[in-house]
Amino acid sequence: MISTGQKIAITRVERSRLKETDLDNVVFGRVFSDHMFVMDYQNGQWQQPTIVPYAKMQMSPASLVLHYCQTIFEGLKAYRTSTGGAALFRPQMNIERMNRSAERMCMPQIPEDVFMDGLKALVELDSDWIPGGDEGALYIRPLLYASDEYIGVRPSEGYRLLIFTCPVRGYYKEEVRVKIETEYSRAFPGGTGEAKCGGNYAASLYPAKLAADEGYHQLLWTDGETHQYFEESGTMNVFFRIDDTLITPETSGTILHGVTRDSIIRIAEHEKIPCEVRRVSVREVVDALKEGRLKAAFGAGTAATIAHIRSIAYEGVNYDLPPVDQRNLSNRIGKMLDEIRRGRIADPFGWMVPVK
Ligand code: COI
Repeated sequence: MISTGQKIAITRVERSRLKETDLDNVVFGRVFSDHMFVMDYQNGQWQQPTIVPYAKMQMSPASLVLHYCQTIFEGLKAYRTSTGGAALFRPQMNIERMNRSAERMCMPQIPEDVFMDGLKALVELDSDWIPGGDEGALYIRPLLYASDEYIGVRPSEGYRLLIFTCPVRGYYKEEVRVKIETEYSRAFPGGTGEAKCGGNYAASLYPAKLAADEGYHQLLWTDGETHQYFEESGTMNVFFRIDDTLITPETSGTILHGVTRDSIIRIAEHEKIPCEVRRVSVREVVDALKEGRLKAAFGAGTAATIAHIRSIAYEGVNYDLPPVDQRNLSNRIGKMLDEIRRGRIADPFGWMVPVK
């Protein structure tokens, strides 16, 4: 563990904005809670960690990040538990993944203890911002970016780590219609596919826009070399249920190691639901669709949790999937995941980290 042992200096807001916020009607990613965590990296060292009121920041037009996208982020959630407390879902996984992304993007490692303390302190301070109800959660966005005022191409020397939070409800309002992408690629071997870096998302926008123009919510990404194997769905990992087996693509350098993906695999093992982690070909899934053996498909991610796929389009043909109320395996796993996160059932995996 990389550690600095530094204590966080906290400056509270003079007046909370919470009273003016309707937590029952928040739009994903548009509402921000009162505080944010800020820690700079300068002269080869992390500086004093702070928590300050959430506010806009000044930035030089020459900030390296704006030009060459040396930036990484994470997404995790805190939940209100059935006893009225607050708990983080598997934060250690995000901390470790962020440091792997940092390595790939030539950025400094973040001390794990300060990162964890920052998450806990921030959520504790703004725990009243966690919406209640079945879909409510506090989405937490850690962000690390290159802050040097310099436009030559090289790794930055200075960085800023921010963590801020958003009260959220569902990400998708409906089941998603997706299209199998066989022209554009999200990632390729040796690239940055498994890093959670801004550029991956920027590069996905144009193909996603073309698909949206055709009426699809998302893409099913295929591998960049042959376009014959599935990788991810939009900004999520993807699972298929063929007959009674769940199948998800293996992570082989081009696919994000999703925390929700891992949790689904672990729950499936626990519940003795057959689950295979391997290459999944487009042919196998399209054949299963044609034969009525594709019982379910869904995206898995922190923001959306489980996003049921309503239909899959391939080579201009749209194939519908069974109604969601018939998808007993994915519904069962989704329910168990949700109940663990909200403290409604015992957490057999030790995933929840209480903050309050
Ligand atoms: C997440 O699910 O946390 C993501 O990072 C997806 C997204 C909102 C970019």
